[in-house]
Amino acid sequence: MNVHATALAKAHQFDEQTSAFAGDVLDDLSQHPKRLSPKYFYDAAGSELFEQITRLPEYYPTRTELSILRDRGSAISAILPEGAALVEFGAGATTKVRLLLEQCALGAYVPVDISGDFLKAQADALRRDFPALAIYPVTADFTAPFALPDAIARMPKVGFFPGSTLGNFEPHEACSFLRSARDILGQDALMLIGVDLEKDERALYEAYNDKAGVTARFNLNVLHRINRELGGNFDISAFTHRAIYNRDRHRIEMHLISRKAQTVRLLGQNFSFRAGETIHTENSYKYSLERFAALARGSGWTPRESWTDGAGMFSVHALAASD
Ligand code: AVI
Repeated sequence: MNVHATALAKAHQFDEQTSAFAGDVLDDLSQHPKRLSPKYFYDAAGSELFEQITRLPEYYPTRTELSILRDRGSAISAILPEGAALVEFGAGATTKVRLLLEQCALGAYVPVDISGDFLKAQADALRRDFPALAIYPVTADFTAPFALPDAIARMPKVGFFPGSTLGNFEPHEACSFLRSARDILGQDALMLIGVDLEKDERALYEAYNDKAGVTARFNLNVLHRINRELGGNFDISAFTHRAIYNRDRHRIEMHLISRKAQTVRLLGQNFSFRAGETIHTENSYKYSLERFAALARGSGWTPRESWTDGAGMFSVHALAASD
């Protein structure tokens, strides 16, 4: 816990999670430029908005990754060892893992997520449809070291990290995550990972600036969350969503722009905004196949195979743990 968080926990009787949230928000809004961590997008409302994003006509990643998993299912299943335990880092909608379970002879499924409630609902739904499958949910922050269940100790391990969530990590965090996954899964492990690709800037721009404004609501929701959970007084209508492609850094950047000069009060502190000042809320890095392969090689993995859709929008990679 940071210094702020410890003091806030005491002063406001926050639970551990809310104190950490409060501490991070106070620290991040004190930076120049101001920022907020994208991990705080995903409260119940934010998770629902993200599900809506995945169905938008402009947001190609989800449906393109699904089409790769479907169309390349036999090639993927050919390299997964029979009876392997599939360890999914983060438990989202079950659509992607279902495709693997239907096409590959897996021995067990281990979803890992910080939200125990979400994991339970997900495991219950899968048990109904795959009654013979052993499911061992693990409640943990998947970006930090955690122990795998003893029950899969003797099974070959395959990590699964779909959705290009890796793109929301800074390059050094992506490297640490891959190294940590390598340590958790052990030698001889494989990793299947979805990675969004660099492409025409217009397609990227539209994917993060959809006409229906769902991405804008998703971005602004973090201010609602701060008001609701931390008692802030953000006037949401005084901020606007902006997403731009930063070509030099190969990333989409999401920002919340202050429409006017204003002061926001939060947990006993004032935060002043100039008109046009930004809160940087998310980066979504886009990789070339070569740059991703280089990242994997530098992070304890050897690229085995990669698959893309016909238009080269998205990629799925199979990596093998390096010795
Ligand atoms: C979860 N993550 C991979 C999404 C992305 O595309 O970076 C989050 C997102 N942000 C805006 N739209 C979707």
